[in-house]
Amino acid sequence: AMRQLLAGRKVTVTAGGTIERIDPVRYITNDSSGKMGIAVARAAHAMGAEVRLIAGSIQVPLPEGIDTVQVQSAQDMYEAVLGEWNHTDIMVQTAAVADYRPKTVHATKMKKKDDDLVLELEKTVDILESLGQRKQHQFLIGFAAETNNVDEYAMDKVKRKNCDLLVANDVTKAGAGFGTDTNKVQIYDAGGLVEDLPLMSKDEVAFQLLQIAAGRLNGVSAS
Ligand code: PMT
Repeated sequence: AMRQLLAGRKVTVTAGGTIERIDPVRYITNDSSGKMGIAVARAAHAMGAEVRLIAGSIQVPLPEGIDTVQVQSAQDMYEAVLGEWNHTDIMVQTAAVADYRPKTVHATKMKKKDDDLVLELEKTVDILESLGQRKQHQFLIGFAAETNNVDEYAMDKVKRKNCDLLVANDVTKAGAGFGTDTNKVQIYDAGGLVEDLPLMSKDEVAFQLLQIAAGRLNGVSAS
């Protein structure tokens, strides 16, 4: 049996992509399948935590036995996350949140015209950054999908978003990132690289990550 390292802890996990509507039949989304976030939710559950999963757009079945809320947009996800925040001990933001959304959401289906169409986008809220600003007792874990300069961008994000840990995956690497059952990650804190994990299942990545978090939360070094 897995050690109950998270017994008595409340873990909130976001998973999947967000859906930003253009009109009633069209939207903008991304390739996140939800697998990484579901793996974290399941691992936390196996480690004894009380888990709340906030799922955006996902391509796999929702995990059984885990308390789940489904959301669409970045704004919806933000509101759902804030509702859990005060009683969360560990927040894990694996979701691929849209950085931009259509400035106007059309109430009826947009009609095709002769001219090209320019879609105007506006920034969404940065959920992780906002949580970093309100952090009190919470242990905050962010993810970062990168295609280049992984080290530099990960270090920038861990500091700017005030995360306790940041999990970087180079999504151009085989077996890593969006849609796969495996991942290859580096884990950082504000001081630098904490762990450089080899290619492994997302379930195993989740367990390794939560072991580090549990160790730090319980005041013991787990790695
Ligand atoms: O779902 P899978 O198919 O298993 O794929 C897993 C994954 C590749 C989506 C996952 O491992 C991953 O990398 N998730 C983060 C994706 C992402 O949006 O990275 P980012 O570098 O753009 O964002 C950095 C962090 O800020 C993330 O924790 C993100 O959730 C958060 N963010 C970003 C934008 C925004 N508006 N609000 C946020 O909270």
